[in-house]
Amino acid sequence: KHDEIILAIETSCDETAVAVVKNGREVLSNVVASQIESHKRFGGVVPEIASRHHVEQMTLILEEALKEASITMDEVDAIAVTEGPGLVGALLVGVNTAKALAFAHQKPLVGVHHIAGHIYANQLIKELEYPLLALVVSGGHTELVLMEAEGEYQVIGETRDDAAGEAYDKVARTLKLPYPGGPHIDKLAQEGSPTIDLPRAWLEPGSYDFSFSGLKSAVINTVHNAAQRGETIEPEDLAASFQASVIDVLVEKTVRAAKEHNVKQVVLAGGVAANKGLRKELEERFKDLSADLLIPPLQLCTDNAAMIGAAGSIAYRKGKRSDLKLNANPGLIL
Ligand code: KG4
Ligand code: ZN
Repeated sequence: KHDEIILAIETSCDETAVAVVKNGREVLSNVVASQIESHKRFGGVVPEIASRHHVEQMTLILEEALKEASITMDEVDAIAVTEGPGLVGALLVGVNTAKALAFAHQKPLVGVHHIAGHIYANQLIKELEYPLLALVVSGGHTELVLMEAEGEYQVIGETRDDAAGEAYDKVARTLKLPYPGGPHIDKLAQEGSPTIDLPRAWLEPGSYDFSFSGLKSAVINTVHNAAQRGETIEPEDLAASFQASVIDVLVEKTVRAAKEHNVKQVVLAGGVAANKGLRKELEERFKDLSADLLIPPLQLCTDNAAMIGAAGSIAYRKGKRSDLKLNANPGLIL
């Protein structure tokens, strides 16, 4: 039997990533060039800089990924690429690289949704079983996605304002921590205790939606008010309190949705899935539940192309084909 080889490309934000994935499950190479150092001094991702870096890095990363996998373009069955959502100028670099390769080598092209990629990162650690619930938490997204079957996505809850990672990054900026702030807050939170009272946005009863902007503002106000009164707040305690508030809501809604929809598996996805507090709390809560909890290793949580290869493989086998008119779609719907 012939092995299926997918070449996958991801450039939706600030990582230039290329991977080779065998049979949808096995990572032959997964090369990621992070641009964090270039964006750090601006306190966030600068779209124009991101696009330029992708252009500079792409061919080098592509060459490295093929070499590491010991694969030539002849052996590739299909090319998968993130078509959206993300920064349009950043996405365009990946999409156009994929189109040029597909054209030059006469290979099928498959456009992939970035969030489908984050979810299918879990397929690289274990065979997924349906119905499945995914908690997707990244810098741009906070969603609960119900999947009744392979490749079928139903968003049952989403953020009404800031994404969880965005809230982490903004709170980190208030505490004068470097970008991206998530890992720094996570580390500080381990050293403090959640002694500061902060709000939890449960929203309407039964809702699976999220909201983090009120919490973010509460943190900023707490810091300003303390400064005005000449008081000091322990950053560790503030980080721990903020983290507790985010985790409480994420975990509670995930548990409720998993029970209501009687899912077989719950998978964690996106950059915030790297959060130690969140991983620990989910593991605790799912010990007594029937659903199986999957949490990817750190390098598969943050943006990478292996996850696009995993999701691309599913789409490819289902017969999805994109043509050379494929365009970047920053607002692509799952
Ligand atoms: O998935 P990702 O790499 O990019 C997007 O698609 O957005 O997620 C990046 C986000 C950033 O906001 C970053 O601060 C957050 O994930 N993040 C974390 C942790 N590691 C990364 N947030 C909380 N705790 C962490 N340990
Ligand atoms: Zn992402």
